[in-house]
This record gives sequence, structure tokens and C-alpha cells, in this order.
Amino acid sequence: MKALAANRSRIEIPDLSSVIDRRITVLGSTGSIGVSTLDVIAHARKCYGAGAMPLEALTAHRNVKTLAEQAKAMKPKLAVIGDETLYDELKAALAGSGIETAAGRQAVIAAAGRPVDVVMVAIMGAAALEPALAAVASGATLALANKECVVAAGSVFQRALAKTNAAIVPVDSEHNAVFQVFRASEEAEVETVTLTASGGPFREWSIERMRTVTPEQAVAHPNWAMGAKISVDSATLMNKGLELIEAHYLFALPPEKLAVVVHPQSMVHCLVSHSDGSTLAHLSAPDMRTPIAHALAWPRRILSPSRRLDLAAVGQLTFEAPDYARFPALPLAIAAMKTGGVATTILNAANEIAVEAFLNRRIGFLDIPRVAEKTLNESSDVAKEAETLDDVLAVDAKTRELAGNVCRRMMV
Ligand SMILES: NC(=O)c1ccc[n+]([C@@H]2O[C@H](COP(=O)([O-])OP(=O)(O)OC[C@H]3O[C@@H](n4cnc5c(N)ncnc54)[C@H](OP(=O)(O)O)[C@@H]3O)[C@@H](O)[C@H]2O)c1
Repeated sequence: MKALAANRSRIEIPDLSSVIDRRITVLGSTGSIGVSTLDVIAHARKCYGAGAMPLEALTAHRNVKTLAEQAKAMKPKLAVIGDETLYDELKAALAGSGIETAAGRQAVIAAAGRPVDVVMVAIMGAAALEPALAAVASGATLALANKECVVAAGSVFQRALAKTNAAIVPVDSEHNAVFQVFRASEEAEVETVTLTASGGPFREWSIERMRTVTPEQAVAHPNWAMGAKISVDSATLMNKGLELIEAHYLFALPPEKLAVVVHPQSMVHCLVSHSDGSTLAHLSAPDMRTPIAHALAWPRRILSPSRRLDLAAVGQLTFEAPDYARFPALPLAIAAMKTGGVATTILNAANEIAVEAFLNRRIGFLDIPRVAEKTLNESSDVAKEAETLDDVLAVDAKTRELAGNVCRRMMV
């Protein structure tokens, strides 16, 4: 006890100056992750001083009103709107503020490549791919919330990373958890990495009842407030499949070492099991501001406004195996991961098209994994590796067209 107390007295109050001076860009600042990121930064400014975590750029796609409000409040150097037709509106809203404005897809990519310390990649879907690669090329640390770009272009991403000093700190709660737990592990001693899944809103629904699911029901996640696309992915469990593929690439783990367990309370985010039988888990309250704060401050830690874990109040943590029959998107994603090549690029693009069609009430909820499966079956050269970004973009574009046709066939 004495030795422990002596050790404690030697622990120094951390000097966080190198963390709070970090210059940050937020791609997708108007989305769920983007808003939470700005909340974490605003909290840091309250705790550590108004100049903490200066912002270089904020980007959005169409939500010009929120982007302008965020820019006025958070004072980035630059605000970019992806949709060029909204440029005049953005410019007028920020006139006299001293904040630069720009518009268009290339402007988003250019903003991502500006020299900064950390780029938060919170754009939704494969649209994040080129901006994320521009951030990698700049050598910044990527706080990576977007999983679709790793799923669509895993090997291209790995090669781009190998060429720079860029580091990736995953923001997805499960991967951020694995990233933290891995720091205590030797890779060869890891037997299994298990990602937890909440099971989504239809965990206990029969397949007959799932046929009737509406977009409103699918986006109402029991534990997390998220964007529409990821909410639907969570409801089909495709999200967990995409996360397995993301973990496969981010942590260089073979598919046999990856597993999923359903954990409805979303308090345990990962379990890393070792050769001696020890399993290390990461726990936190289901609040994305925790992994966001970790990613922004890594390898240090800052004060975050996120909810704290109170296990006594929770009472029980439960776990169960996923039901592959009711949630076929999960085994489909596992099969694509095992196939390798562009199978995951195709799976991702087909799923994005299917989710959009479901949200627009053109196909049913249970059709989403069917569209992905049919598109994979009708695609050629699925196991062929993509060598370049252009290869990935070509497969992505071709798949979107094919998946659109599959959706149209399902409507009749
Ligand atoms: N939300 C979560 O809790 C969570 C957890 C883990 C991982 N993620 C991942 O993080 C990413 C973002 O999720 P989210 O829930 O924050 O999504 P979201 O709420 O839909 O926000 C998406 C953001 O991306 C922008 N955007 C959309 N399409 C774009 C395009 N074509 N080009 C450039 N920007 C575009 C949007 O701008 P506008 O607002 O102007 O449309 C918005 O700022 C996703 O990949 C998701 O899988 C999210």
C-alpha cells in the first residue's frame, strides 16, 4: 500500500499544451459526429482557454445554414460547402466574418489536405474516400469516424498510409476501444477481437414483423443518436459487418480472429482475448464524445463533456449471439471480407444504394441485404485487388449502377 501511495504521489499533472494547441479540420461538421466533435472542442475551450484546438476548416455537403452558424461560433479559417449551388448563400452568411469560403467537391478535398495536426473524417459514406486520402497525404493524424472509406478501399488506404507519417485513430466506438486496448497487447498474443453490437431496434422482432419496418422505425436507434444511413446499417446489422471489415484493415487482423457478440446496453465496446485466457474489455457510456475526445487528444487525454459510466445504475450487462437468419447482412459482410479483393468495395456501394432506396420507400427493409447479395453475385472479378484509387472509384461507380438496377427489379 505504501509503495502504491508513493507511486501515486510521483504522478505529474499532465502538460496538455501540445494537445490544446493542435490545429483541427472537421470534414462533415454538420452531421451527428461533426456536431459532437465541435461540442468536444467547445468544451476544451471552456476548460483550457478560448484558443484551445484552433480550427482550420469545417466542411458540409448541403446544410449551409448549420455550417454558417458553426463557423460563426467556432471561428475556423475556412468553411466549405460541397454543393456548389449553395456557395452564394454561404458567402453571404459569412460576409464580414473574416472566414474564407469555398464550394464544390474539389474544395472539400483541398480543405482536407490543408496542413493541420488532426483531421476529423466525419463525412458519410464512400464520399469520404478522396478527402480522407488527401488528409493522409498531408501527414495529419486522421480521427477516422467514417468506416465506408476503409471498407471500400482498404488496401489503397493501407498503401497511402505507408507512404506518409499519417496515423489513424479510429473514432467508431468499437474500433477506438480496440485501439485503446491494443496498446496493452502484443499482436501475436491476441487470439480474438470481439466487437459488440447493440442489436439495433429490431433485435427481438420476428422476421414477419421486420417485413413491415418503416424508415422512421429504422432510424430510431435505442442507444445512439446517429445519421440516417448508419442508423439503418445498425438496424440491419450491416454496420457490424462493415465494422468487422474496418477492423480487418485497421488492425491487420485475419477474419478468423474477428467476432461479434450482441450486447444491447452498448457499454462494453470490445473484448480482446489473449493466448493465456485473459480478456481485456473497454467500457464507456454510449456517447460518441468519448471516442471523439480520445481521438482528438491521442496519445493524451482531455476533459470531455461526455456521459460517464455508472454500472450500478445500469445493473446488468447482457450478451447473446447474433442471429444470422434474421440479420443476413452480417454473414454477407463476413463472406465479402473473406473473399477480399473488391468484394468489400462492391458490398459497400450496393449497401449505400439499397439504404438510400429504403429511406426513399422504394424497397423494403428486408430487401437491403438482398440488394447487396444480388449485386455481389452479378458482379465480375469480385476477388480482384484494386491497385489504385481510380480502380476503386471505377468499381464503386459500376456497382452503384448495377445496384440501382437490382433495386428497380425488386420494386416490381
Ligand atoms: N453517428 C455516429 O454515432 C457514428 C458512429 C460511428 C461511426 N460513424 C460514421 O461516421 C460517419 C458520419 O456519420 P454521421 O452519423 O455523423 O452522418 P451524418 O449525420 O449523416 O453526417 C454526414 C456528414 O457528411 C456530410 N456529407 C454528406 N454527404 C456528403 C458528400 N457527398 N460530400 C461531402 N460531405 C458530405 C454531411 O453534410 P450535410 O449535413 O450538409 O448533408 C454531414 O456533415 C459515417 O461514415 C458513419 O458510419 C458515425
